[in-house]
Amino acid sequence: MALKTMKMTASAAVLAAFATSASAADVEVLHWWTSGGEAAALNVLKDDLSGKGVGWEDMPVAGGGGEAAMTALRARVTAGNAPTAVQMLGCDIKDWAAEGALANLNDVAAKEGWDNVVPAALQFFAKHDGNWVSAPVNVHSTNWVWINKAALDATGMGVPETWDDLVAVMGKMKENGITPLGHGGQAWQDATIFDAVVLSMGADFYQKSMIDLDPAALSSDTMVEVFNRMATLRSMVDDNFSGRDWNLASAMVINGEAGMQMMGDWAKGEFLKAGQVAEQDFICIRFPGTQGSVTFNSDQFAMFGQGDGDTTAQMAMAASVMDPGFQSAFNVVKGSVPARTDVPQDAFGYCGKKGMDDLAEANANGTLFGSMAHGHAAPAAVKNAVYDVVTAHFNGEYDAATAAEELAAAVADAQ
Ligand code: BGC
Repeated sequence: MALKTMKMTASAAVLAAFATSASAADVEVLHWWTSGGEAAALNVLKDDLSGKGVGWEDMPVAGGGGEAAMTALRARVTAGNAPTAVQMLGCDIKDWAAEGALANLNDVAAKEGWDNVVPAALQFFAKHDGNWVSAPVNVHSTNWVWINKAALDATGMGVPETWDDLVAVMGKMKENGITPLGHGGQAWQDATIFDAVVLSMGADFYQKSMIDLDPAALSSDTMVEVFNRMATLRSMVDDNFSGRDWNLASAMVINGEAGMQMMGDWAKGEFLKAGQVAEQDFICIRFPGTQGSVTFNSDQFAMFGQGDGDTTAQMAMAASVMDPGFQSAFNVVKGSVPARTDVPQDAFGYCGKKGMDDLAEANANGTLFGSMAHGHAAPAAVKNAVYDVVTAHFNGEYDAATAAEELAAAVADAQ
């Protein structure tokens, strides 16, 4: 995997990061968990910590994919006032670790045996130079479709298994007077769908284009077809999609205004929060054509180094998020699956169990890939370049052939 370190003038910012604002018994937590389902999951964590005497200072910065949160983090570090604990995704963890900004979690990891229970795909992001630098709280995956069951039944069609089935179901939903695709026009949401559409062209194609960043794959006819499919999906959203938050798009599916949403399994947190039941009110399927493969992202908490300061609260938080009981309780609410392999499935519903099984199967078959949209395929500069092209195309600025050319050029420039 091509992982380049970010171009940040490191030393001043890193030294500044050692000055933190939370008191020794508190953690100040920077995160982007601001929707109803996310807040419910966050409360599981807050309550767990409070039971251990660790106080919570909240620093929410909304926006899936964490782009806005990472901008806020950079500003805080530069100002010499880093938050103590930060929700972070894959390549961002690697970048900050390479700058020397993250606390070493080896002691707590050894005490709790993390090496034995965290899958290699997550350790790849959680370790730097062999040292633990973040605590993985979950595994999400992005190639899901969440379908309103009554809206699907009204089409008289079955669950879509292929791209053609999907287009047929969406066409029928349109005829039935609902918006086929609940979506919010924000770059990271467009990119989340793009992840799945790229994967629907085959696991090899995802590997070559999104992980290897192969210029020939990025500008290929297959990529032109990806953009054609994105244009078809664009024709299935409503007129007010621009700028809509993802959880409002989930709400459209929940209340039957829209037929489906293509979104990571944090969307499940919204369905559950609304009291909906899998298989009865909503259906979860892998994006047609991606069955057997998974694009994942893992939320992890990185602790910003405190120099000689007291790290008790930070280490207590690291231990807490990796506790098996906590991993079960938190992930049931969050919609994700545990970051440990030894957590029983019992507490999870149909989609959670499916998520765990799919992940294990993809891991065993070599078809588990980091999500480009959620920072697990390439560093932020490349991810943002992909966002720009995908969103410009989604909004009609490029035709499919131009978009594929622009994508290859933008990714090359960003490396
Ligand atoms: C995070 C999820 C979060 C989602 C939407 C993703 O990048 O990994 O935890 O729920 O964004 O905010």
